[in-house]
Amino acid sequence: MIFLFTASYDLFWFTLIVANVFTLAHGKLSPNHYLSTCPKALFIINSAVIAAIKKETRIGASLLRLHFHDCFVNGCDGSLLLDDTPNFIGEKTATPNYNSIRGFDVVDDIKARVEKACPGVVSCADILALAARDSVVYLGGPSWTVGLGRRDSTTASRSVANTSILAPTSNLSALVSSFSAQELSLKDMVALSGMLYNF
Ligand SMILES: *[C@@H]1O[C@H](CO)[C@@H](O)[C@H](O)[C@H]1NC(C)=O
Ligand SMILES: *[C@@H]1O[C@H](CO)[C@@H](O)[C@H](O)[C@H]1NC(C)=O
Repeated sequence: MIFLFTASYDLFWFTLIVANVFTLAHGKLSPNHYLSTCPKALFIINSAVIAAIKKETRIGASLLRLHFHDCFVNGCDGSLLLDDTPNFIGEKTATPNYNSIRGFDVVDDIKARVEKACPGVVSCADILALAARDSVVYLGGPSWTVGLGRRDSTTASRSVANTSILAPTSNLSALVSSFSAQELSLKDMVALSGMLYNF
């Protein structure tokens, strides 16, 4: 139940952060990006998110956290989703993510559905952004407009993930400087740190 209280407060601030920082950082994003190329994309994503939350309530918070951990490492580019291979080390196994972030199966399911409807059109980074917003809305939080048109990264950085995503042991000055590096205020920091600890 602690989750419900903290979630609604934190998500309010996360709304402002997503709207003001992550979106503005990508000036060319538009909420209508898929209007002609994949008109059903937003409906498909929303339906899949709702189905996933009905199956397990906690997944809504997990999807929001996926977006958060994606955005803190070189921007909201879907890099978090890349699996390690023999020649490539991604962010999934970085300390703050390993055995901690979850919801990849939901994102895979959504991606499969949008690919079926409009092959090669909708980015995974946009799916993460929309899934985060739709989760918050379905769980009773505020809504916000999601600018769309992110391109998926073909690279990832485990070292940046190790250092840019805060640890539960981070002290106050480390917290403040890390959020400040993302152009997030002290108020944003308090809300998002609370989210990090509780999810
Ligand atoms: C990141 O953290 C993991 C887990 O502690 C560690 O094994 C790895 O060497 C670190 N990688 C980089 C590139 O910092
Ligand atoms: C806070 O953590 C940073 C980085 O781990 C460290 O360099 C700094 O000395 C710590 N500050 C305090 C006041 O403990």
